[in-house]
Amino acid sequence: MVDGVDAQGWSDVAVGWAELWGSFAEPAQDALIAASAIGHGMAVLDVGCGSGEFLARLRRVGAEPVGADPAPHMVAAASVHADVVLADAERLPFESGRFDVVTAVNALQFAGNTPAALAEFARVLAPGGRIAIANWAEGAHNDIDVIERAVAAALDEEQLPDGPLRPAGGLEQAMTDASLEVLSTGIVDVPWRAAGETVLVRGILLGEDAATMAELHSVIVEAAAPFRTSDGGYVLRNAFRWAVARPR
Ligand SMILES: C[S@@+](CC[C@H](N)C(=O)[O-])C[C@H]1O[C@@H](n2cnc3c(N)ncnc32)[C@H](O)[C@@H]1O
Repeated sequence: MVDGVDAQGWSDVAVGWAELWGSFAEPAQDALIAASAIGHGMAVLDVGCGSGEFLARLRRVGAEPVGADPAPHMVAAASVHADVVLADAERLPFESGRFDVVTAVNALQFAGNTPAALAEFARVLAPGGRIAIANWAEGAHNDIDVIERAVAAALDEEQLPDGPLRPAGGLEQAMTDASLEVLSTGIVDVPWRAAGETVLVRGILLGEDAATMAELHSVIVEAAAPFRTSDGGYVLRNAFRWAVARPR
């Protein structure tokens, strides 16, 4: 429910993000590592790095990661894993040609200007480098969409439409428009797990106050009933699309 918030909003939810969502994109991270052949000694910039779980993963495969994020508390959390700068995607404070790979997971959609962000990724890339991006697939692939629809209906609000990066071909189009050559693409399952009702509601309503959580608790629990597991937890099956490209 944090779509649409600004950098300060992301900063405010940094601790909750790390706890509830920080690791869930791991399958997409792995897809990017494999597809862009990230390995030992490679300089990798993760843009919109959030609380830094991908930076830790990159370090484990031998890469030398650096993070960038415009939310101060995200930067503080991620700095445990690597050097992290306070910056947004459109203005990266690095010299040209510094990185072998630039990644962005569940982050490019927050850049105000997608072509400018992708041009900036290309600028900081060394010759032969790769840009590797993963983002939510369109709502039809995501159990969370069922819950967000129920919440929007309960609040008598319109559900946010899928952004242009989500549908099949959307990421590729954005890359092509930014003079990048798309090398490979895919879609990967990215399930999100909640141990019980309380975690489910906190995760879905991350950033909302306690009164809103109480008001919407039963709406969310009812909508999530199909995704309840025998141990009382929940597994929401979702998908990310990913693409790897290089400058033309
Ligand atoms: C959904 S979180 C994802 C964090 C992390 N990449 C992950 O997969 O867990 C989105 C992140 O994008 C950051 N963000 C927001 N606006 C941004 C921008 N213009 N450029 C780069 N990152 C941005 C937020 O501060 C937040 O940390």
